[in-house]
Amino acid sequence: THSIPVITIDGPTASGKGTVAHRVAHQLHFHYLDSGALYRLTALSALRHEVPLNDEHGLAKVAERLPCRFAGDQIWLGNENVTSAIRAEEVGNTASKIAALPTVRHALAGLQLGFRIAPGLVADGRDMGTVIFPHAVLKVFLTASVEARAERRYKQLIDKGFPATMEDLLKDLRERDARDSNRAIAPLKPAEGAHILDTSHMTADEAVEQVLKWYAAVKKQS
Ligand code: CDP
Ligand code: CDP
Repeated sequence: THSIPVITIDGPTASGKGTVAHRVAHQLHFHYLDSGALYRLTALSALRHEVPLNDEHGLAKVAERLPCRFAGDQIWLGNENVTSAIRAEEVGNTASKIAALPTVRHALAGLQLGFRIAPGLVADGRDMGTVIFPHAVLKVFLTASVEARAERRYKQLIDKGFPATMEDLLKDLRERDARDSNRAIAPLKPAEGAHILDTSHMTADEAVEQVLKWYAAVKKQS
């Protein structure tokens, strides 16, 4: 599988990783891995089964036995469509807490590697370029100001019918940024050689265009 190209897109919450990675994958006819969804699925499953968040062993079991299925842009847990349920802020916050546990990260690593299928993969998350796909042909670190990100998340949540206030979101985002950046294992940081793209004043399509340009340049070199 080492000849199958991988593009990694990492960055903080609501920086636009998912949107940009999904569109880049579509343009290139590549597969797409939303690694955050795996952490969110583990979190949702743990919340549903009332596995305490300090039960590292129990949480790793949940991650190992995740009965999840990705069908187009729909995500299933067992026979329940959880595409919308996993986007709740509570699930994101719980995901960020359990993502600090090495056993959980280990349990989800193999699952993520399995997404590397021809003709190529675009993977988004926190450690795609640093840990999971260190030999990716192109690594991007997407970022944006916390205010821009809170506003984006606010619009998304309201559109989906979830309750939200800017004040709570700013607080949540700052907490999550700190937790994801300061954890001992696979902390959020740009991978070596990553292109850093600040999208505070960019549209998602402009970000997509930039990533495609970088990929075209990489391909030309190889
Ligand atoms: O969409 P958002 O950026 O808010 O979050 P996500 O990508 O869906 O990921 C949810 C949580 O999972 C993050 O806050 C991270 O703590 C964790 N995560 C991770 O640790 N490593 C990844 N590769 C992806 C997500
Ligand atoms: O995956 P991540 O949490 O990083 O972000 P997302 O779920 O893709 O959400 C980003 C939201 O901001 C989406 O509604 C995008 O349409 C919007 N947006 C963006 O992604 N990039 C920009 N440069 C501007 C807006």
